[in-house]
Amino acid sequence: MKKIMVTGALGQIGSELIGKLQKEYGEENVLSTDIRQPLEPIAGPFQVLDVTDGKMMHDVAKDFGADTIMHMAALLSAKAEAEPLFAWNLNMGGLMNALETARELNMQFFTPSSIGAFGPSTPKLNTPQDTLQRPTTMYGVNKVAGELLCDYYFHRFGLDTRGVRFPGLISYVAQPGGGTTDYAVDIYYKAITDGKYESFIAEGTCMDMMYMPDALQAIVDLMEADPGKLMHRNAFNVTAMCFEPGEIAASIKKHIPEFELTYNVDPIRQAIADSWPDHIDPSAAVAEWGFKTSYDLDAMTADMLEKLKKKLKA
Ligand code: SER
Repeated sequence: MKKIMVTGALGQIGSELIGKLQKEYGEENVLSTDIRQPLEPIAGPFQVLDVTDGKMMHDVAKDFGADTIMHMAALLSAKAEAEPLFAWNLNMGGLMNALETARELNMQFFTPSSIGAFGPSTPKLNTPQDTLQRPTTMYGVNKVAGELLCDYYFHRFGLDTRGVRFPGLISYVAQPGGGTTDYAVDIYYKAITDGKYESFIAEGTCMDMMYMPDALQAIVDLMEADPGKLMHRNAFNVTAMCFEPGEIAASIKKHIPEFELTYNVDPIRQAIADSWPDHIDPSAAVAEWGFKTSYDLDAMTADMLEKLKKKLKA
C-alpha cells in the first residue's frame, strides 16, 4: 500500500480513514473521492467521483497511480431499507466498478462488510466466522453478495481483496446517518446537549460495536497482513464489545449521573437489529492477522464524552 484511493471519503468511516492513512503513508499518497465536494477544505488531494461511473473511477485511479483502492461508498442499513432499488444500484454497482478498477489496474482492494450480512437464522451468540448467512434486509443482501464477489475476484483473478465485517462504529467525528446502530452515536450527543435520550432501539437489544480508532487500525493491520497467513481473505468478523441500550446509558451515567434514557422504538430499525447477531466471534481475525482492540465500553464512553464536549462547545 503506497498510493491509496478512497471512495466515500466524506462518509462515516472515510472521513476518518483518510486522516489515518495520510499519517501512515503520507498526505500526497491518499486520494480522497466522494460524490460531493467537501463542505470545508480537507487535507490532501480530492476528486469528486460518483462510484456508479466505472469509467471515471478507472481513469481517476489510473491518473493518480493508485496501487490500492479502499471502497467505502455505500448506503447503510436503514436507508437501504427505505430505498432498496437505489441501495442495490449504488452498493452493488459501486462495488463492481471498484472491483473491476482494481482488477484492470492490479490494485490491492479493501471494502467493509458488516454484521448486517447475518440474518435471523444465524447463531446469535459467538457467531462463527463461517456460518449461515440468510439476511432479511437489502443491506444484508448487498453485503453477502459483496463478500462473495470479493472472494470470487480473489479466486478467479488473483486480486488481493481483503475485508472485515464491521459492527456498529462509534465516533465523535462524523455522524453515521441511515444506520441501525446509529443510536449508540446519537446517545452521546444528546447526553451532552439534553442530558437525556430517547432510543429508537428497544431495551435488551444487544448489538456488536467498536470505537472508530480500533476500526481504522483494523483496516491498516489487515491490509498490511502477510497474505500467506490469511486463510480467509474477506469479511473477517471483528468486534470490540456488545451492549444493549441500558448498558451504554449506565456507562454514560458514570460521567453524567442525571442522564436519562427513554424508549420510542422504531419498528423498522428494531426489526433490522433483531435480525442481527448479539455478539460475533472475531477469533479468525485474531488468529490470522492479529486483530486487537484498545477500547471497551467505558474507555470509549470516557473518550467520546471528553471529545464531544470540546466539539459541541466549539
Ligand atoms: N452500522 C451499520 C448499520 O447500522 C451496520 O453495518 O447500518
